[in-house]
Amino acid sequence: MSKSTDELFKNVISHAKEYGFVFQSSEIYDGLSAVYDYGQFGSELKNNIKTYWWKAMVQMHENIVGIDSAIFMHPKIWEASGHVAGFSDPMIDNKDSNKRYRADQLLEDKIERYKKDGKTDKAELLQEELDEALKMENLVGLKDLILAHEIADPVSGTRNWTDVRQFNLMFSTQMGAVADDADVVYLRPETAQGIFVNYLNVQKSGRMKIPFGIAQIGKAFRNEVIARQFIIRMREFEQMEMQFFVRPGTQKEWFEKWKKTRLEWHLALGTAPKKYRYHEHTKLAHYADAAYDIEFDFPFGFKEVEGIHSRTDFDLSQHQKFSNKKMQYFDPEIDPATEKPYGNYIPYVIETSIGLDRMFLLTMINAFEEEDLSTEEKQDSRTVLRLHPCLAPVKAAIFPLIKKDGLPEKAREIMDKLKLDFNLQYEEKDAIGKRYRRQDAIGTPICITVDHQTLEDNTVTIRYRDTMKQERVDARELEKILGDMVSWKNLLA
Ligand code: GAP
Repeated sequence: MSKSTDELFKNVISHAKEYGFVFQSSEIYDGLSAVYDYGQFGSELKNNIKTYWWKAMVQMHENIVGIDSAIFMHPKIWEASGHVAGFSDPMIDNKDSNKRYRADQLLEDKIERYKKDGKTDKAELLQEELDEALKMENLVGLKDLILAHEIADPVSGTRNWTDVRQFNLMFSTQMGAVADDADVVYLRPETAQGIFVNYLNVQKSGRMKIPFGIAQIGKAFRNEVIARQFIIRMREFEQMEMQFFVRPGTQKEWFEKWKKTRLEWHLALGTAPKKYRYHEHTKLAHYADAAYDIEFDFPFGFKEVEGIHSRTDFDLSQHQKFSNKKMQYFDPEIDPATEKPYGNYIPYVIETSIGLDRMFLLTMINAFEEEDLSTEEKQDSRTVLRLHPCLAPVKAAIFPLIKKDGLPEKAREIMDKLKLDFNLQYEEKDAIGKRYRRQDAIGTPICITVDHQTLEDNTVTIRYRDTMKQERVDARELEKILGDMVSWKNLLA
């Protein structure tokens, strides 16, 4: 990370705390590692991102419906899905510092250092060796690479490493009063399995025809070996996932369609296309036959925000095997090749899976600007969050110019009418300039000021966050101005 991007990231993190977006969980007890709380504006922003996703995926697609399944599920689900046996990261401990690391990340960091030092040949060779060791799950090989490249613990500075071991990322707990093995349940590490095990319930009760999708937003939990980069890698986080059930043999074209559709969803927010890129997986997860990430250019480099996975019929077949319940769908459509119905089959699945917290961070970073407003006469600056109005936590702030002469009452009257439709803030403390700056910092698209003229002709001053321009409008137009500005049509059309 260069100094300026490092600074930008630090500034976004401290801004997120100072203005009530994100707090460290349990902060007064010195925090809980990789767990965060969303504050008053953070939770609004997060809800708006969820709404945008839900509307784009469910409301805009007649063949996609949404569900809300439980976090706790039968433990056999995680055996069937492969998570009990295979959902793990290779970890290594340093015997002097007692610190634990992900072996692959130590090697990734080394590759980055080689690149920075201009040793591209070494970087490329190590990348190849790392990929091979991960593909073969060669834990001894990973340790050999760590030793061969003389990687030392950043804390102790020594190379006194344990062997590399697999570390399962699922949290487990006990259900019921008696704690024996039979009662072990897991906190779900992905929301997707709640969709798979309900797919026939939804298909039958909703009379869904293939191709169709099921969407879900919810918490997921992973005991990440190391926590890094603020809310990028958390132990408790939220996913927005959609499983799209298709006829076997058509998965490639649906995969391409969803890859494109999901990037369009991101770009509709006005983000510069160069900030995004696709990354094709070479090491596929145990369930996938194709996978792409949508990556965003964070201050610390391109990182995955969303995954598009072609999951084949792996999950449904596994659940059929483990539950002894039929997972087949009867397709009455006529196959032109045989002129007979397609009949019974287990559908193939294309998954789109986006991390809500990563989308939140991306949105904050993309919107954050420290703008220099200096003129020849004086130095000035402001911090502004240029959030899309649909995502902004507060849609408008209403100010009486001064706290007397009936202005607060008039401002409240306008506020009381508008708050039926919009999330607003009323502020009467401090000079107008200071109030503008506070709203800029939380991304409020417009501020509405009520002054003495308002009492005469019912006009107010609107001040726009992005341009800082002001205009005088009739207060009766406010509902339409705000409605047009925050309409979901602006994003969905
Ligand atoms: N159902 C597929 C699945 O869970 P994944 O690539 O492991 O796939 C999907 O996760 C998305 O969830 C990622 O693209 C990322 O945005 C988010 N995610 C995964 N682990 C996370 C973590 N520890 N903290 C925050 N977000 C995470």
